[in-house]
Amino acid sequence: MATWELGLAIPVAAIPHPVTDVGANSPMIGILGAMEAEVRLLKAMLGDATIADSTGRNYVTGRLGGHEVVVSISGFGKVAAASTVTSMLDRFDAEAILFSGVAGALHPDVTRGDVVIADELVQHDFDASPLFPRFVIPSLRVDRIPADEGWTDRAATAAAAAGATVHRGLILSGDRFIDNDTDRAELRSLFPDALAVEMEGAAVAQVCAERRVPFAVIRVISDTADDDAAADFLDFVDRQAAPLLAEIVAGLITNTK
Ligand code: ADE
Repeated sequence: MATWELGLAIPVAAIPHPVTDVGANSPMIGILGAMEAEVRLLKAMLGDATIADSTGRNYVTGRLGGHEVVVSISGFGKVAAASTVTSMLDRFDAEAILFSGVAGALHPDVTRGDVVIADELVQHDFDASPLFPRFVIPSLRVDRIPADEGWTDRAATAAAAAGATVHRGLILSGDRFIDNDTDRAELRSLFPDALAVEMEGAAVAQVCAERRVPFAVIRVISDTADDDAAADFLDFVDRQAAPLLAEIVAGLITNTK
């Protein structure tokens, strides 16, 4: 997969930083996606957009639905997501974080095009045993990190208003794209109630929980985490998931006081 398809025009390591400090000290809502397509339409909706470069990423600030927002593309995986959220909190003083993206379905009731909103998230590849039970995040002393109830309730309302079939429950995150029946079955046996799997949400959850910042994770199902998971993936994200995610996140922010 070429880097430009993921929204990173040049490798992050090649980008000098920091550049500017736009938006520091003004409380706002942080919105991030792993790929350009997951937030592209939202960025296009912003009024007064300005761009700041930091940690090798673009942070686009502007107004949406009566709120100040900052939008960024994290890149894939837990480290990239944690780094991006940390910048949003430290440099832009974000008062809430929304992750907008796609995920692979794990639960048989969940199908492509459905929306899954996390009530709680687990890092399925985290294991500090025997020091801590498997999956438990030491700083938080829990394996399942709860999302903010208010933001999650409003996200579910916005997703239903957009016409989506909405599921709420457990989302798993790990640094692995799940694209085979063996890995899928293993995750299902470890977490029979898991609805979906992705690569960033539980890292966002950890940073936000440690910093006591409310957050929500909103995912459109792009695949069923099996042998066909990568087929048509980018096309689906671009054509179907992106407009739905933009409608949900814009509706959610507009309906937030
Ligand atoms: N994001 C979208 N589909 C995924 C999958 N199958 N595994 C991990 N992350 C994903």
